[in-house]
Amino acid sequence: MSELKRFGVSIEENLLQRFDQVNAGIYDNRSEAIRDLIRERIIEAENEAEEETVVGTLTVIYNHHKKGLTDKMNQLQHDYHCLFKSNLHLHLDSEFCLEVIVVEGRYYKLKEISSRIIALKGVKHGKLTVTNLKGVKN
Ligand code: NI
Repeated sequence: MSELKRFGVSIEENLLQRFDQVNAGIYDNRSEAIRDLIRERIIEAENEAEEETVVGTLTVIYNHHKKGLTDKMNQLQHDYHCLFKSNLHLHLDSEFCLEVIVVEGRYYKLKEISSRIIALKGVKHGKLTVTNLKGVKN
């Protein structure tokens, strides 16, 4: 771990209060909350470089009654099987399913294929969340 550096930040009181409120009960101190935000932004920026290899999850909620949807979702995952590592499936009710798919690969490719899955008719919500080891080790 590198040496801690202190720095001053000017911030509107109202903004700081709101930040503390949303972090209450989550973070013991403000510094750790700010460090996590900084790490998140660094990881995001590095991933945006698009050549970075990342790991993460694609979470989707979809209506399994939608004709052809599960076949299309499966086909895309088979076509890019090197990106899709593991699936967790929950039947939420008589119509909707939640699927959490563990992904690993080049960010630009994951983003492209994930967007195609999320865009399928019958997918009601989808989100790709990624990180990389380099980002969290700093
Ligand atoms: Ni299901």
